[in-house]
Amino acid sequence: MESAIAGIVRHLGASLKNRGLYPPTHPLVRTPVEKCHVELSPFFADRPELALTVSDGTLVLEGVPIFQLTSSLELFMARLGAIGLPAVIFERGVSVEDIERFVRFLHETKEQGLPIEEITARLARWGITHIRVTATEEEEKDDFTIAREIYGNALNFVVRALKDVRNGKTPDGEESDRVVREMSGMVSRNRDAMLALTLIKNFDEYTYNHSVNVSVLSLAVAETLRLPEIERIAIGVAGLLHDVGKTQLALDLIRKPGTLTVEEFEEIKKHPEEGFAILGKMTHIQESTRSVVREHHMRFDRTGYPRPEPEYRMNPHSYVIAVADCYDALTTMRSYQKARTPQQALEIMRKLAGKSLDPDLVELLERSLGVYPVGTMVRLSTMEVGVVTGTAEGGKGEPKVAILFDRAGNPLAAPQGVDLKESDLSSGRPRRMILGTVNPLMHPPVSMSGVLQTVSA
Ligand SMILES: [Fe+2]
Ligand SMILES: [Fe+2]
Repeated sequence: MESAIAGIVRHLGASLKNRGLYPPTHPLVRTPVEKCHVELSPFFADRPELALTVSDGTLVLEGVPIFQLTSSLELFMARLGAIGLPAVIFERGVSVEDIERFVRFLHETKEQGLPIEEITARLARWGITHIRVTATEEEEKDDFTIAREIYGNALNFVVRALKDVRNGKTPDGEESDRVVREMSGMVSRNRDAMLALTLIKNFDEYTYNHSVNVSVLSLAVAETLRLPEIERIAIGVAGLLHDVGKTQLALDLIRKPGTLTVEEFEEIKKHPEEGFAILGKMTHIQESTRSVVREHHMRFDRTGYPRPEPEYRMNPHSYVIAVADCYDALTTMRSYQKARTPQQALEIMRKLAGKSLDPDLVELLERSLGVYPVGTMVRLSTMEVGVVTGTAEGGKGEPKVAILFDRAGNPLAAPQGVDLKESDLSSGRPRRMILGTVNPLMHPPVSMSGVLQTVSA
C-alpha cells in the first residue's frame, strides 16, 4: 500500500512540475494525471475518500507519510503550502478532469495563504467536483486566524453579491451589515491583523479583494477619526459595495487594460448611479451608504463623475472611500500598471491632496498606516531585509517586521518575526533598527502566507 500511495502523489508532483515546462496537452503533463487516476481507483473500493495532508513539513496520504521527496514532490508540497491548503480530500468518483484541473489550479494560483472558503469557492468555479479541501485540525484561534476568517467571510459575501446582481437578484443587505460589523470589530481590536490581510493582492480576482480591502482601509480611517459605530458600518458597507454598479457593465469593458475610448469611459461613468440604484433595493442599507456609493468618484474638488450640481452637498464619508480606493488601487498590480510600494502610493496621493482627494484624509490615512505601512519592504541596521507586518501605536515607534533575507541577501527558510524594541544585552542599544525602504523588485518574490503567519506570533 505504501508504494501505491507514494506513486499517486509522485504522479501529481510530476504533472505539476511538467506543467511548468510543457504545454497543458503535452503527454508529460497529461499521462501522470491519468496514472494517478488509475492508481487512486482501488482505494475507493473500501472507503469513500482519501485525505492528503501536509503535516510538519511531511506529505501524508491516508496517514502514510511520504519521506522520499523528489524535486517534483517538493514543488507539489510547496505549492500546497503556499496557497494555504492544509488537507486535500479526493472523493470516490474523482475524474481525470478533476485531477487535471486541480493540478492546473496549483500551477496557476499565484496568491498565497488563501482562506479555505476562498479555495473551496475557486475549486467550484474551476468545475472541480470530487476534490475538496478542509482545515486539518481546529487551530487555536489567535487574532490573525480570526481576522483571516472575517476577511474570508467578507470576500465570500462580495463574490456572492456581485453574482446575484449579475443574475438580476438583490444581494443580502443583512449579510453585508454583518460582515462589516465583524471587520469593524476586528479593526478596533487588532488593526494590524486586519490590515495585514490587505497585503494579499489578488490579480485575477481584483474586484473582490479590492472591495474588501477598500472596506478594511476605510474602517481603519473611520476608527482613527473615532466615528461612532453606526457611521463606521455605513462607511465599511460603502467600501464593500462601492463598485457593485460595475456588474451592469460589459465584462470586457471592466477588464480592458489601458486607456478607454470616450464612449467606453461614458459607460464606466454610469457605475456609481447604478450602484446607488442597486443599494436602493437592498435591506439594511443606511441612506449615507447609498450616497457614498453614488459619490465615490465625484472627487474632493467636485470635478469627477457624476458631476455634482453647485448646490449638491457631498457626504464627507465619500472622501474616506475615495482615499481608501486610491491607495488600494495604486498598491495593486493590474494588467496596465505595476504595483506601487505603500510609500510610492502615498507620495502620489500627497500630490492629489486638495485636488481629487481630501488633504486631511490623505494625512489621516498616512497616520493610520504609520511611517512604514504594512507591506513595506525595509532594510534593517543588521543589513537584513524584511517586510513590515504591523504598524506601531499611532504610527510612531517601531513597527513589527518579518525578516525575509539575511545580511547576505539569502532568503530565510521561513520568515522570522522580530521585535524592534528588543535591545542588545551588552550595549543596551536596539538590536535592529530600520535603515530605510528597499525596492521589492530587487528581491525574489515573497511567500505572503509565511509572512502573515508571523503576525500572530
Ligand atoms: Fe468605482
Ligand atoms: Fe474601486
